[in-house]
Amino acid sequence: MGKDIKKGLMGVTVDETSISKVMPEINSLTYRGYAAQDLCAKCKFEEVAYLILNGNLPNKRQLKAFEKEERKDRRLSKSLIKVLKEIPKKAHPMDVARTAVSVMGLEDKETSNNTPSSNMRKTMRIFAKTPVALAAFYRLRKGKKIIEPKKNLSFAENFFHMCFGKVPNEDIVKAFDVSLILYAEHSFNVSTFTARTITSSLSDIHGAITGAIASLKGPLHGGANEEVMHMMNEIKKPENARKWINNALNKKKVVMGFGHRVYKSGDSRVPTMREYFGKVAKITNDKKFEKIYDIVEEVMIERKNIHPNVDYPTGPTYHLMGFDTDFFTPIFVISRIIGWSAHVIEQYSTNKLIRPLAAYNGNKYRKVLGIHKR
Ligand SMILES: CC(C)(COP(=O)(O)OP(=O)(O)OC[C@H]1O[C@@H](n2cnc3c(N)ncnc32)[C@H](O)[C@@H]1OP(=O)(O)O)[C@@H](O)C(=O)NCCC(=O)NCCS
Repeated sequence: MGKDIKKGLMGVTVDETSISKVMPEINSLTYRGYAAQDLCAKCKFEEVAYLILNGNLPNKRQLKAFEKEERKDRRLSKSLIKVLKEIPKKAHPMDVARTAVSVMGLEDKETSNNTPSSNMRKTMRIFAKTPVALAAFYRLRKGKKIIEPKKNLSFAENFFHMCFGKVPNEDIVKAFDVSLILYAEHSFNVSTFTARTITSSLSDIHGAITGAIASLKGPLHGGANEEVMHMMNEIKKPENARKWINNALNKKKVVMGFGHRVYKSGDSRVPTMREYFGKVAKITNDKKFEKIYDIVEEVMIERKNIHPNVDYPTGPTYHLMGFDTDFFTPIFVISRIIGWSAHVIEQYSTNKLIRPLAAYNGNKYRKVLGIHKR
């Protein structure tokens, strides 16, 4: 391969952003200058969503208005509910999320209006409705009735309510809220870059988010949290963990939930999520996955010096909360809609068509022969 080719755009800086950064001086992911773990300690998800979209933390009045808008936008159209009812029950919920946002784009009265204020209103509608659509599918595929969203519940509480018909204790809700904060934004990762690339042709935000969801589905990106759970289920019990992970490494397997393109000595989101995973394991009185977690991590660091990424603790945490494994990445979606939308709006404000080059390594020039001569 030519030495000038940066396969996977590794190490290439393609644009500027003011939304988030991994700051080496504090070894942490920051949103608009605030460390993600500090936001987890002091804020709820809606405050962080406001921050990422607007640039500053909200005061009480601003937060109230933001929450009011999100809660008002939660209801789904009759036609979207009809689509959800007709989707095959075996469909992957990531494909359902992608389809739901695409349908929202068909219905939104401002789909083709790409002014900043219109994009912000569309963001709020996508943000409010996507969890409702996913929860509806969660119930429908189990043959259960859809549960209507409730305006008196927070974003996190409402998701539990719509999936399970009840809101768990506040520590579980806080752990879920923390995972949403940690998943909300991460600069030019593959799904965000997809959203920005789509936007760069001056296409619309529904299209950008639909594409981003397709990108997040892959196991090298958001899909890793589901793969972590499959791995833990395969390991079954802590006594098997050491042998399982050693075998996997001997066979040169890629172990999901480990490694990162940006963090090479540990993902700064992991200690916070690990703490909340521990809290949820304690509340649910199920320590099995925590033990497996620690053993696999120890061997990965000892043998490969590869550290966990945030998908490693979120996978088993969502499992203990009662979610089906194929809903882990869709939960990532309902949070990351915020980051994607902020990037779409930023891309519009300083747009340049994204159109890289490729070094051609195909056939030399050939003459086309008529079909009878080939
Ligand atoms: C995230 C990921 C794609 C980053 O990849 P990258 O920056 O391109 O790094 P590379 O894949 O080139 O990895 C460098 C080396 O570490 C190894 N490595 C990286 N992640 C690994 C993992 N999870 N398990 C085993 N080995 C791993 C690679 O095999 C490679 O080894 P080599 O140099 O001997 O070939 C990669 O770490 C991965 O596939 N992780 C698992 C999926 C995952 O958890 N994704 C969620 C990310 S938030």
